[in-house]
Amino acid sequence: MKSTADFSGRYGPWAIVAGGSQGLGAAFAREIARRGVNLLLLARRPGPLEETAAALRRDHGVQVKTAAVDLSAPGFLEAVEQAAAGLEIGLLVCDAAHSHTGLFLDSDLSTCLRILDTNCRAPLALVHRYGSRMAERGKGGILVMSSLSAFWGSPYVAVYGATKAFLVNLSEALWKELGARGVDVTVCTAGPVLTPNYIASMPTRKGPSALEMTPEKVAGIAMAALGRRHFVVPGALNRLAQFFMGRFVSRTAAVTMLERNTARMYGR
Ligand SMILES: NC(=O)c1ccc[n+]([C@@H]2O[C@H](COP(=O)([O-])OP(=O)(O)OC[C@H]3O[C@@H](n4cnc5c(N)ncnc54)[C@H](OP(=O)(O)O)[C@@H]3O)[C@@H](O)[C@H]2O)c1
Repeated sequence: MKSTADFSGRYGPWAIVAGGSQGLGAAFAREIARRGVNLLLLARRPGPLEETAAALRRDHGVQVKTAAVDLSAPGFLEAVEQAAAGLEIGLLVCDAAHSHTGLFLDSDLSTCLRILDTNCRAPLALVHRYGSRMAERGKGGILVMSSLSAFWGSPYVAVYGATKAFLVNLSEALWKELGARGVDVTVCTAGPVLTPNYIASMPTRKGPSALEMTPEKVAGIAMAALGRRHFVVPGALNRLAQFFMGRFVSRTAAVTMLERNTARMYGR
């Protein structure tokens, strides 16, 4: 692991965490704060943003700014720019995501487009804007949250899974392109993570499964991968599942398995 001085020298003095108010985003913010980097947290609701920011200031003594921004709204980038005015952003974490469970044709088109805007358009715009400034300075880091659902079509979460595939593909390419300009890019394809929203979305969930991980564990592993690997799957069992499904299971069988599994998980 990089020392605090190495980390803040390479990825400081400020980090943006898009989706930094709760769940994994808040865990990323804690990982960053404890390495001495100041934070600008983005999310829609001011209440959770302020609560998380206050805890980070109290526990880690870093500066924390917040901006209540809807990343799916057309003018979001200007709002982020305003909030980040005068800050040197050395690290960008694209964590915020929107999801919806249900059959594609039963979902409103507006919901599908909102997933696309939050999960693809927003990270693309943020990475373009702040990645280009990092490249000009010849240093910085970008961490993108994807999911194991990126690798195969996932019935019942079809649009969400497709947006996560976009992020893997984009991040892998940028790892090379931006890496050549001194900017580290890592994409994290997590399995199930015990965030409040994940738990709330599983009405039939019985208890912890071996694949589920805490947000703290996932954020710690992903952050440690930045600057070392362009791609990380937290958790040995999740890595094994991804390897096994990729090598030994046909795509047809994999999608059928995911359909059954997702239907069971979400009580469909
Ligand atoms: N939990 C899992 O099992 C799991 C598994 C694999 C990958 N992931 C990925 O990990 C990331 C975080 O997941 P999570 O479970 O921690 O999510 P979460 O608990 O739902 O938190 C999402 C964060 O993003 C913010 N957000 C959502 N929509 C937004 C928007 N339109 N504009 C601005 N901020 C927005 C939320 O705050 P507001 O609601 O206030 O806006 C919150 O801070 C996501 O990219 C997800 O795809 C999660």
